[in-house]
Amino acid sequence: MADKDGLKVAKDYHVDVPFARQGNFHVKGANDLDWGMKKHLSNIFDPKTGNTVMFAFDHGYFMGSVSGLERLDLIIPKLLDSVDVLMGTRGALRNCVPPACKKAIALRTTSGSSMLNDDLSHEVVAVNVEDAIRMNADCMAVQTFIGADGQLSSIDNLSKTINDGMRYSIPTLGVIAVGKQMERTDRFFKLATRIVAEMGANIIKTYYCENFEEVVAACPVPIVVAGGKKLPEDEALTLAYKSISEGARGLDMGRNIFQSQHPVEMANAIRKIVHEKFTDKEAYEFYRDSIHE
Ligand code: 5RP
Repeated sequence: MADKDGLKVAKDYHVDVPFARQGNFHVKGANDLDWGMKKHLSNIFDPKTGNTVMFAFDHGYFMGSVSGLERLDLIIPKLLDSVDVLMGTRGALRNCVPPACKKAIALRTTSGSSMLNDDLSHEVVAVNVEDAIRMNADCMAVQTFIGADGQLSSIDNLSKTINDGMRYSIPTLGVIAVGKQMERTDRFFKLATRIVAEMGANIIKTYYCENFEEVVAACPVPIVVAGGKKLPEDEALTLAYKSISEGARGLDMGRNIFQSQHPVEMANAIRKIVHEKFTDKEAYEFYRDSIHE
């Protein structure tokens, strides 16, 4: 292992230089993958824009029933026309999402803790690749805890999932977790996203931060940005706009959609930013106009 002392600070991110191995495929880092991987990734990332709107409703896997998700069977169908990808647990998907729905599926495959634990960083792979295949999942989502107690086991979970995913051409989505004690700095996100990408994840879900363009430039696969705690709608749209204009290929929002007073209108406004190049101000106007119609 390289000596940690005397490391030079990384700074040559060349944020204005496009990714050198994009090739003809619209998803970063996937040009040399096989047809099956590319098919799943194309279900997730719209080939016209290269971007995606993911709706995360997997909170129940450790939080139980949260505000806004009390009735998955009622909220999810309302949002189907507004989002590209449904990110949930197999229990929520099988029980509350109509199988005829054509949306891509990001299947949460790790679990192991609950809100009752102080340390949430110890998970296992709870859903195997055979069940992901049965559910026609377009990617398997694995929580990773870089810098936390559960780092080693989460990298083990990630690596096993990627090995299985490579066998059956199912992409892996590495989710960067941020514990209470962990810094939300670009230094942390550069470290965590890069480790997870180098392990072989095909998509990374992380948080927006300062110098986000550098986080994106240093990550050889697409980044989608997590929403985090509920913000006022205009602020959530600014977060979405900054993320997309600084290189994210999508948003994977939960609470900022389902805890909005107007979840459908909010998801549609996010969609305008992600797929139609709306600014945050234009998207907020669109949101305001939609709720007053
Ligand atoms: C947990 C997740 C969740 O899907 C995500 O946090 C939910 O989205 P939001 O924070 O926007 O409510 O990945 O790590």
